[in-house]
Amino acid sequence: MKIISTIKEFQKWRKGIKGSIGFVPTMGALHNGHLSLINSSNSLCEYTVVSIYLNPTQFAPHEDLNSYPKTIDKDLNKLLEYSVECVFLPNDSEMYPLGFSTYVNELDLSQFLEGESRPNFFKGVTTIVAKLFNIILPTHAFFGAKDAQQLLIIKKMVIDLAYNVKIIECPIIREANGLAMSSRNEYLSSEEKNIASNIYKALKVGKELIHSGETNVKIIRKEIINYISSQNMVQIDYVSVADAETLMELSEISCNKILVSIAVFIGKTRLIDNFTYYN
Ligand code: PAJ
Repeated sequence: MKIISTIKEFQKWRKGIKGSIGFVPTMGALHNGHLSLINSSNSLCEYTVVSIYLNPTQFAPHEDLNSYPKTIDKDLNKLLEYSVECVFLPNDSEMYPLGFSTYVNELDLSQFLEGESRPNFFKGVTTIVAKLFNIILPTHAFFGAKDAQQLLIIKKMVIDLAYNVKIIECPIIREANGLAMSSRNEYLSSEEKNIASNIYKALKVGKELIHSGETNVKIIRKEIINYISSQNMVQIDYVSVADAETLMELSEISCNKILVSIAVFIGKTRLIDNFTYYN
C-alpha cells in the first residue's frame, strides 16, 4: 500500500496504472461505512485509491473542524487489511495553495436540506471532490447513501462538468442498534449513542406509514417528528420528505423515488440519516 502526500508524486504513480481505478474519498476516522465503500471498489475495480483529507472548506467557522476525530495511524492500519493500492494523504497547502481562489459550486440541489442548514458546505465538498477527481483520475468513485444529498450533487457535478467517472452508490452501514455509522458518532457518550438509535427508529415509523399506504406527507412528517421529539436531548434540525431527484418537498407521496431525510442534534452533535422509498 503506497502512501502519497503530494499531487506530483501521485500523478507520477498514476501514469504507471492501466485499468480500472476505484476511488474512495474520505475525511478519515474510518469506520465500517467507509470500509464498505472500499469493499465495493475492490470487487468492481482492479485498483483502489483511498484519500484521507479533512477538508476545511466544507466546515463553517462555528462547526467541528478542530474537534473532528483524527485517527490516521489507526486508519492506515485498517486499510492494510484491504486491497488498497494507494492512500492519498495530502496536507492543506497541497489542496489549497496560497491564494487559492477557484471553487466548484452546484447552485440548485445544494440549496436544500443540508445546504440550507450549512451554507457553503456543498461548495466545499464539490470543490474538493472535483480537485481530487482531477488528481486521482478514477474510472469509478464510491459514495455512501448515508450522505444522500452529497451523492446526488456529486452525480450532478459529474454530468455538468463532464467527468469521465462512474459514481457508485453504496448502502448505509449501521450499528447493531440501527444508528448509521458516522465519524461524528465518536462525539457521543454511551447514553447519547442509545438516544441516537431513535433517529433510525423514527425513520422506520415514517417508512412503515408509507408502506401501509399513507400518502399525506403532513401526517408522515408529524409522526416522525412526534417520535423523535419524545426523546430527551434531541433537537430536530429538519425532517424532510422530498422528491429524491429534485429535492423539492412533497405534500403527497406521488413521485417515483422519495427521499425521507432527517437531521438532528443529540446534545452538541449533529447527525443525519435517511431512506429512499421507491413508489
Ligand atoms: P466522510 O464523512 O469521511 O465520508 C466518506 C464517504 O463515506 C462518503 O461517501 C460517505 O457517504 C460514506 N459513508 C459515511 N458513513 C457511511 C455509512 N454509515 N454507510 C455508508 N457510507 C458511509 O463525505 C465525506 O467524508 C466528505 O464530504 C468527502 C466526500 C470526503 C469530501 O471531503
